[in-house]
Amino acid sequence: KQNIPCLITIFGATGDLSHRKLFPSLFHLFQQGNLNEHIAIIGIGRRNWDNAKFREEIKASITKHVKDTDRIDDFMTHVYYQSHDVNNIESYKKLLSFSEELDAEYKLAGNRLFYLAMAPEFFGTVTDALKESGLTDTDGFTRLIIEKPFGTDLKSAEALNAQITRSFKEEEIYRIDHYLGKDMVQNIEILRFSNAMFEPLWNNKYISNIQVTSSETLGVEDRGGYYDNSGALKDMVQNHMLQIVSLLAMEPPISLESDDIRNEKVKALRSIRQVKPSEVRSYFVRGQYDKGTVNGEAVPKYRDEENVNPESNTPTFVAAKVMIDNFRWAGVPFYIRTGKRMKKKEIRVVVEFKEVPMNLYYKRDQHLDSNLLVINIQPNEGIELHLNARKYVEGIDTEPVKLSYALTAQDKMNTVDAYEGLIYDCLKGDATNFTHWEELKATWSYVDTVDQYWREHPAPFPNYQAGSNGPVKSELLLTRDNLHWWDF
Ligand code: BG6
Repeated sequence: KQNIPCLITIFGATGDLSHRKLFPSLFHLFQQGNLNEHIAIIGIGRRNWDNAKFREEIKASITKHVKDTDRIDDFMTHVYYQSHDVNNIESYKKLLSFSEELDAEYKLAGNRLFYLAMAPEFFGTVTDALKESGLTDTDGFTRLIIEKPFGTDLKSAEALNAQITRSFKEEEIYRIDHYLGKDMVQNIEILRFSNAMFEPLWNNKYISNIQVTSSETLGVEDRGGYYDNSGALKDMVQNHMLQIVSLLAMEPPISLESDDIRNEKVKALRSIRQVKPSEVRSYFVRGQYDKGTVNGEAVPKYRDEENVNPESNTPTFVAAKVMIDNFRWAGVPFYIRTGKRMKKKEIRVVVEFKEVPMNLYYKRDQHLDSNLLVINIQPNEGIELHLNARKYVEGIDTEPVKLSYALTAQDKMNTVDAYEGLIYDCLKGDATNFTHWEELKATWSYVDTVDQYWREHPAPFPNYQAGSNGPVKSELLLTRDNLHWWDF
């Protein structure tokens, strides 16, 4: 265990993310001994609360989200609150003297981590003020964790990045993509690069196509205002989905150093074939949910959700055929699909291998099933290999069989929430599982054309029923290539 002394300052500390994810994760790190007495946390918010009130709220939400609350009172003695106006430099000056005080009291070695879990329009204002007030001027490290959305297109992302890099260097900026904190997403790299049996096959000679699905049963909940301006393309594809694609597609890095891995990811993302406006319809499918039934419950259509424009043209579903134009992947489609209000909550990768060169069993009318490598990311976590074998004693008929490894409940108790792992990585200075600026640049420029085309050409929405697998065109995207989505 590496204990790193640090002052963690969370902007947006009274918000939903802090309550549901950040504080429960920090508490769990503390409870497990990954954080020790040399830690202090300042929650920053607009509300006029004091430490006692803030601790009471935080304790309540930790208790709600974490089963074992052993040592919670000890943890709470490290938690503070400052009521703050992000536009007022005086607030930052107050924060500076408070930070110095806590630094001395908890022996924090001047290490400061700033976590921006707030409305994105304030990101730049806050980072500028952190520098101007002297908060980033310290003997220890200064790091910034920043939540998405990082811009709304390439141009705004560039502007935001230019502003943030006035106060923090690229290597001090940790852009969160919580999918990169998921155990089975991290396992993609391990599976590929620590087993002799996959890498030789991991190319266009042996792989027919790769499918990445992230479907949700949830709708937009109380985030209609944000989501209606964003939609599935920016909310999921630009970040989570393309990150998974880059991990599947990247070349082996020369080492596991963060820079080496990120360089390979950037190369993979930059090899993605850009789609011209006239090609958007051939490569992308969009959808928006109509009313329907999800998990036995009747739900309204997207356009009837709170804070959503009743004539909204925002996609809640996107499927795409992503082509990676490099030596390894030429000709192999990566199909991605993500949507809200679908049949099941499921995040999964399916790698479909090509057929054997010749089917020796065809005379017996034997169809051979495709070999598949399935990586289950959520809610099931594990790996499956789908093979053809002889199951019964008589005859030589082949049957599909499944070799599967699933994380057991016992394993799962030891796996941490994505946020917990990522925060700990940041404290250790490991940026591997965070999004580099070059990755963002590549993904924004890829989705921008599509976004613009869709804005200019409204769709006949709604076009899929809540509780379904998305619009019919998503199926057609694959049938056109004589393939189909693997749904189990
Ligand atoms: C977030 C999106 O980044 O990811 C949400 O903003 C989405 O709209 C969520 O619901 C999905 O995350 P997970 O971990 O539940 O798949």
